[in-house]
Amino acid sequence: VYQIYPKSFYDTNGDGLGDLNGVTEKLDYIRELGADYIWLTPFFVSPQKDNGYDVEDYYNIDPRYGTMEDFEELSREAQKRGIKLMLDMVFNHTSSNHEWFQKALAGDERYKNYYIFKKGKEDGSAPTNWESKFGGSAWEYVPEMDEYYLHLFHVKQPDLNWDNPKVRKEVQKVVRFWMSKGVKGFRFDVVNLISKDKFEDDFEGDCRRFYTDGPNIHQYLKELNAESFGQDAEIITVGEMSSTSMENCFGYAGEDSHELSMVFSFHHLKVDFMGNEKWVLVPTDFQKLKDILFSWQIGMAKNHAWNAVFWCNHDQPRPVSRFGDEGKYWKKSAKMLATIIHGLRGTPYIYQGEEIGMTNTDFTDISQFRDVESLNHYEILQQKGLSKEDAFRIIQIHSRDNGRTPMQWNGENHGGFTKGMPWIGVNENYSKVNAQSQLHDETSIFNYYKKLVALRKELDIIAYGDIRPLDVRHPSIIAYERIYGEEKMLVVCNFYKTEVVWDSGMDLKGFETLLGNYSEQKIEESKISLKPYEAMMLYRKR
Ligand code: GLC
Ligand code: CA
Repeated sequence: VYQIYPKSFYDTNGDGLGDLNGVTEKLDYIRELGADYIWLTPFFVSPQKDNGYDVEDYYNIDPRYGTMEDFEELSREAQKRGIKLMLDMVFNHTSSNHEWFQKALAGDERYKNYYIFKKGKEDGSAPTNWESKFGGSAWEYVPEMDEYYLHLFHVKQPDLNWDNPKVRKEVQKVVRFWMSKGVKGFRFDVVNLISKDKFEDDFEGDCRRFYTDGPNIHQYLKELNAESFGQDAEIITVGEMSSTSMENCFGYAGEDSHELSMVFSFHHLKVDFMGNEKWVLVPTDFQKLKDILFSWQIGMAKNHAWNAVFWCNHDQPRPVSRFGDEGKYWKKSAKMLATIIHGLRGTPYIYQGEEIGMTNTDFTDISQFRDVESLNHYEILQQKGLSKEDAFRIIQIHSRDNGRTPMQWNGENHGGFTKGMPWIGVNENYSKVNAQSQLHDETSIFNYYKKLVALRKELDIIAYGDIRPLDVRHPSIIAYERIYGEEKMLVVCNFYKTEVVWDSGMDLKGFETLLGNYSEQKIEESKISLKPYEAMMLYRKR
């Protein structure tokens, strides 16, 4: 699946915002890469407080992105190229501009029950001490009603009340509407937060336990499945699971559980956090990364459940900056990271620009950032006593805007993204890092991704094989084996720039190289010598 953040993909009318026609124009590029699906992040009518994740109207397209005709054209053109569309459904909350919320505020009881309104405490303070994921209280007071409403995200993103069957019916209707437009895939935004448990203060944790993987979650997903996408066997679905547990994912993405096809979980990306706290600077815990990645690989397989596998999306920094090397080993490390993901068991997701090794932003001032989460936390960090400089450094490293700067198409102005002024700055490195220069270069990151995608389609072992991690305690190597009948595939990657000789402990005779990021692999008996960020996929028929 290739993920597109339309706002930053390609602008066809010079207003500085990417649009649906921009996606249509670039379909051949995506076909070249080999993706079967495009996941489009929300393009519905929205005041854009959270870049479209605040939906005002689920049935119409925001004029900034185009029209329904543009969407239909995109859909037709994609189909011609054998590409299906996956839409992003944001059902944990709506925009506060949504008609339902406006009616609720106007005192209409029916619509008030679509949301989560609660009385404050005795002293008038918020019903619970929960914090919004974007900073500050998760409750907003409405004086006219003398009540608070819940917003786990932005104050303009009130949470829907899924315990109300009418809400569930509305949501099913939205999915069926897009199914009727021929859509064959859905991603469900933070969908494991829809079933809230107790509305209580949390003095022990960070309050997530009261609304994450809640009591009715599996029932609600089964119902949504039965009433909408489950009626079309061709449709694939993925749930974005915030701070979830693996046990719950056995259900969410279980072969026979009739919930979703697969899940995004994020534990493997919290390896440069302090626990759940992202606004700190700590080095990547490589051991933790491997432990999490592999425990999910094995646990999900054992329980017949399916993972989405990925390094990044529009909420994450760029992997080459985060885990690789932006400098001398830019190409090598980007390919190494790609190898790790694309050899795994699960459905790989490529986020726009990842396939050409795009890097984090080069912003030098807070005014260049756009993301509400980054801007809020920049203030919060200073309130906690950090200097402007230290707060800024943390934002630079962790901001979601790192993944949102415009796609770098070529060496022209603004990387060829727009003829106008881009809504967010293009990284100045576009003359070096751009799609055009990589398309016809056999050694490019793009062509490496293309080979990885092709290999998965060619070799059943990649799609269906079992997985066995190797030498998990090794301080710099990440290695695993895939096994499928008599066949074996070996993925071996050096996560760092120091050369290392790795003893696989097995006889490597008969293995051929499927792919590697160096032209030659040095393999002797059981040992493999790995250069900086070296990665390889080896294969033996029997
Ligand atoms: C998901 C989206 C993110 C958005 C949030 C609230 O995490 O990926 O971009 O801000 O949900 O909808
Ligand atoms: Ca535009």
